[in-house]
Amino acid sequence: MRLFGKTMTAAAALVMTTSISFAEDVEVLHWWTSGGEAAALNVLKDDLATKSIGWVDMPVAGGGGEAAMTALRARVTAGDPPTAVQMLGFDILDWAAEGALGDLTEVATAEGWDAVVPAALQGFSKADGKWIAAPVNVHSTNWVWINKAALDATGLGEPATWEDLVAVLEAMKANGITPLGHGGQAWQDATVFDGIVLGLGTDFYKAAFIDLDPAALGGEQMAEAFNRLITLSTYVDANFSGRDWNLASAMVINGEAGMQMMGDWAKGEFLKAGKVPGTDFVCIRFPGTQGAVTFNSDQFAMFNVESDGAKAAQAAMASAIMNPTFQSAFNVVKGSAPARTDVPNDAFDDCGKKAMADLAEANTNGTLFGSMAHGHAAPASVKNATYDVITAAFNGEYADGAAAAAALAEAVAAAQ
Ligand code: GAL
Repeated sequence: MRLFGKTMTAAAALVMTTSISFAEDVEVLHWWTSGGEAAALNVLKDDLATKSIGWVDMPVAGGGGEAAMTALRARVTAGDPPTAVQMLGFDILDWAAEGALGDLTEVATAEGWDAVVPAALQGFSKADGKWIAAPVNVHSTNWVWINKAALDATGLGEPATWEDLVAVLEAMKANGITPLGHGGQAWQDATVFDGIVLGLGTDFYKAAFIDLDPAALGGEQMAEAFNRLITLSTYVDANFSGRDWNLASAMVINGEAGMQMMGDWAKGEFLKAGKVPGTDFVCIRFPGTQGAVTFNSDQFAMFNVESDGAKAAQAAMASAIMNPTFQSAFNVVKGSAPARTDVPNDAFDDCGKKAMADLAEANTNGTLFGSMAHGHAAPASVKNATYDVITAAFNGEYADGAAAAAALAEAVAAAQ
């Protein structure tokens, strides 16, 4: 809509037609509590403040959002859901199926979201043809973040294959540092496993984690995947258990550890510490996964609210999130790529440009898959059953990869 020569946002237009002002704040439940995450969250808070949308913060610490989802369930059960909730993949669809989410279709239609949000994301932003969430980013999990000086000290190049990777890890060990900075939490173990499984083939990843094919889950390739996980578990330090992901990033940032296998929210930590890609650290795709991407998209789902004021505030927040200028500013800090295809890459560093190019390429080539570890491959029941087996394998509880693969097939079958 054009007014006095200026383009109004659709949300502003909605507000004008219903004469509603933002008397109501939005209460936002999220798990962005690390340094890099909080910096990105501030970009969102500041943006909303300029639009007079008040923010009531409900942070629930815990990478990957499991604790946040538990807190959410408690709030909804008590009949007091937050206004807006950071959410991933199948969790959004589960809440929509429960009838708990509001409808963003009016603002989405007015602003043409259908044309600019990639179909893979829309699969989690819409239910029954209605928009139920606003995607703020696209992260991907198949990344490795390497301390550049530690890599240079090995005399080896960036690892491109599994064998290269093991050679670099061995050389780092010989150089007296912890090769793999890692936190022993189920979702972090699973994030590493996303990369391992994808590295054994895109068809295999799809068959196992998306299609939940018992033969792929319990077969020889899965046994090999678990053997690789068990190999990686030998390169962590003695204190890895329970460590938060951002502290593992810090180990790589300060050179105590050589590398971390983590989604690109890790880049937010490097940037927050003033580190420069290509100079202080390098970002590579998990060896063997070049050309493919396992993604997860943080979306803000809006819960059912009563008043028109609260509904207008939700629509305005969703509109602000979907603004292309905001998507650039936010994702530059967060480490992710924009959730729209029409955002220029100029403001992004080399890792961000690579993230955007990889995403577009994978989308075109049919090698873009939802992340198992971050709730975009299967519903939470299956994800949690998968987590249990992965973590047990990482901690040496199976005789070998074949035993772990058999346990995985059984656990996933029981969870469905
Ligand atoms: C992911 C989320 C990211 C990041 C990460 C660690 O699930 O998509 O935005 O916050 O958890 O907390």
